[in-house]
Formats: sequence, C-alpha cells, structure tokens
Amino acid sequence: MTFTIRILEPADAEAFRNLRLEALTVAPEAFGASYEEDVSIPLETMRARLSASPNAVFGAFADRALVGMAGFAVHDRMKARHKGVLWGVYVKAEWRGHQVGKRLVRSMIDHASRHVIMLEATVGLANDGARRTYHGLGFKPYGIQPKALRVGDTFYDEELLYLDLPQPGDA
Ligand SMILES: CC(C)(COP(=O)(O)OP(=O)(O)OC[C@H]1O[C@@H](n2cnc3c(N)ncnc32)[C@H](O)[C@@H]1OP(=O)(O)O)[C@@H](O)C(=O)NCCC(=O)NCCS
Repeated sequence: MTFTIRILEPADAEAFRNLRLEALTVAPEAFGASYEEDVSIPLETMRARLSASPNAVFGAFADRALVGMAGFAVHDRMKARHKGVLWGVYVKAEWRGHQVGKRLVRSMIDHASRHVIMLEATVGLANDGARRTYHGLGFKPYGIQPKALRVGDTFYDEELLYLDLPQPGDA
C-alpha cells in the first residue's frame, strides 16, 4: 500500500474537512472536538487554518485521496510559544496497520522540532493503537486525566504525553 505525506494547503480544505468530519463521526471518543461543533465551521475558516504556518496539518495521500492526517499547532501565549501540540491524528479504517499513522506523526515531529522545543499530546487511555504509535515515537506519559472527555453518557480518561525535541547543537 503506497502513500505519500505532505503538508496540506488551502486547496485541500474540502478533503481535510471531509476527513475531519469522518474522524469525529467514527471515533468521537478520540478527539476533544465534536462533529456538532466542526460541521458548522465555514470552508473559508478551514482554508485559513491550513495557511497558518508554522502550524500545519500533515496529510497522507493514496492516489490523490486523503487517507490520514496529523496536526501541529504552536501555543499562542508568549510564555508557551516554545511548546506545540499534536492534534487530530486520524487514519481511514482501511489504511490502518500500514504505518500511515506513525509516518504522519514522525513527519509532524520533524517539522515541529524546527519551531518548538517540546510537544504535548493527549490520548485516550483505552486507545491502544494511538498510545502505541505515540509511545513508539518517544512520547512520555506524565499523568492521567480522569473523565477528560464525555461522549453522551460515557466518560473517557486520557493519558497526558510530552516529547522533548532535539535542538540544533544537542549531542
Ligand atoms: C491511532 C491510529 C491513528 C493509528 O494509525 P495506523 O496507521 O493504524 O498506525 P500504524 O500502522 O502507523 O501503527 C503504529 C504502531 O501502533 C501499532 N498499532 C496500531 N493500531 C493498533 C491497535 N489497534 N492495537 C495495538 N497496536 C496498534 C502498530 O502495530 C504500530 O506498532 P509498531 O510501531 O510497534 O510497529 C488509527 O488507528 C486511527 O485513526 N484511529 C482512530 C482515531 C484515533 O484514535 N486517533 C488518535 C487520537 S489521539
């Protein structure tokens, strides 16, 4: 199964929106955002998001179709701009288990290391696939937030993760 990875551009907004809404529909417990919130975001806002560098969304493409994604965002506030967040990691069901998720997050980490010194991520405590992906790339757990998300009547605990990024000049 062959795929390529690149940063999404404003012209990818529609494909991004479709995949994002699919993710929020099929795995609501894996994301802080919800379908009801995101479905009303105008395409123009999505386009603007995709042009806000150094923030970036990495996309995995197979035959020009977007089959996976992973987002990078830098904290806004002055005292937190040295930190970035991994968000919105999703791979279409038929593409899972082929290293798409791992390569997306690795691309995001490479990009992030040029802009921030640390990454943060959160992952569902019961989400074995995502936890293995993140741990395998060096993310370290530093805590658990009980009942971090509520989907309907079900609460989900989340593991809190960080990754120190190598800086130029590090041994
Ligand atoms: C989590 C997710 C992105 C993983 O994507 P993927 O392309 O299937 O992952 P990869 O094939 O790159 O696998 C990476 C590692 O995780 C392991 N893994 C993947 N899915 C797994 C699962 N369900 N159970 C156990 N291990 C799993 C792989 O074996 C691989 O391990 P390795 O590095 O030791 O070889 C994908 O399952 C997904 O989109 N899930 C729904 C949304 C989601 O949970 N997003 C994360 C939000 S925090």
